[in-house]
Amino acid sequence: MTEAAPMTDTAERPAKPHLPDAQIVTAVTHWTDRLFSFRVTRPRSLRFRSGEFVMIGLMGDTGKPLLRAYSIASPAWDEELEFYSIKVPDGPLTSRLQHIQVGDEIILRPKPVGTLVHDALLPGKRLWLLSTGTGFAPFASLLREPETYEKYDQVIMMHTCREVAELEYGRQLVASLEGDPLIGEMVAGKLHYYPTTTREEFHHRGRVTDNLSSGKVFADLGLPKMNPAEDRAMVCGSLAFNVDVKTLLEGFGLREGANSEPKEFVVEKAFVGDGI
Ligand SMILES: Cc1cc2nc3c(=O)[nH]c(=O)nc-3n(C[C@H](O)[C@H](O)[C@H](O)COP(=O)(O)OP(=O)(O)OC[C@H]3O[C@@H](n4cnc5c(N)ncnc54)[C@H](O)[C@@H]3O)c2cc1C
Ligand SMILES: NC(=O)c1ccc[n+]([C@@H]2O[C@H](COP(=O)([O-])OP(=O)(O)OC[C@H]3O[C@@H](n4cnc5c(N)ncnc54)[C@H](OP(=O)(O)O)[C@@H]3O)[C@@H](O)[C@H]2O)c1
Repeated sequence: MTEAAPMTDTAERPAKPHLPDAQIVTAVTHWTDRLFSFRVTRPRSLRFRSGEFVMIGLMGDTGKPLLRAYSIASPAWDEELEFYSIKVPDGPLTSRLQHIQVGDEIILRPKPVGTLVHDALLPGKRLWLLSTGTGFAPFASLLREPETYEKYDQVIMMHTCREVAELEYGRQLVASLEGDPLIGEMVAGKLHYYPTTTREEFHHRGRVTDNLSSGKVFADLGLPKMNPAEDRAMVCGSLAFNVDVKTLLEGFGLREGANSEPKEFVVEKAFVGDGI
């Protein structure tokens, strides 16, 4: 697949929203022909925990809102909200959402929920963030959250895509962290970024599951094998990915937790369905 350089469109002064629950698009970046990110104004009343998701969408042809679940990719302290999205060619929402431009309105229901939050994990030494594709989105929020580095000695971000261009949003985000005035110093020496591809040449290859089960990632990063006393994990990918990673983590002795019962790992689907 050949990709053009990411195209960004930004607005300095968003206009006022018109519809109830409407927010104004302030920036759009197209990363590949199937991935884009965008930023919108943030409702003053919206409080959320980094890692949570909300329902967003557009007005449907029938006059009813067409809404889908989306992880908030920006951290809880950010003045705006960021989202990282797939473009499904015939997807009811994203076939239209992919054409949004700065100044357009989207609908955002301000009721954040989700399990990929710090509160759902018991205290630990290392935090593993394990994702494929747009499953990176909740971790884009958590990687920019100071609490992530206050709570853990080491943070390991594993992200796997088929092709190199699909890693670019995550790569640029991670690269921006060390220079970030808020968390730059906290990140230094703590964050290990481990991106891999499965269907294109790259310096690191292979599925997250294979790199964990073979022990390659532990050897590459000089870390001990995962264990329930020290390691915590958050998982976000396709259903098949989540199922396979869960089995592996349980094999390392970690147990799945929830908001109501914090344990050693938590899981959330990056999307519902088997594939496009
Ligand atoms: C908790 C949760 C959080 C989510 N967060 C995000 C997010 O941050 N970013 C995002 O792009 N999507 C996210 N999704 C998926 C999102 O809700 C929609 O499915 C997606 O926007 C496509 O909408 P659609 O109406 O165009 O197509 P849909 O009818 O919703 O989906 C059509 C098909 O496209 C495939 N598909 C849908 N979403 C994806 C995806 N993200 N990656 C690969 N294949 C996909 C599936 O096979 C699905 O059956 C999330 C879903 C859940 C359940
Ligand atoms: N990515 C593209 O360029 C592209 C283009 C057009 C259409 N699509 C379609 O879009 C849908 C989603 O594609 P996607 O690439 O976003 O997601 P995906 O198929 O879930 O793959 C994303 C990454 O996760 C890996 N993976 C998949 N299942 C796994 C599992 N059970 N355990 C561990 N790792 C796993 C894949 O490795 P493997 O490569 O080893 O499977 C790949 O590196 C698919 O139906 C696809 O046909 C994709």
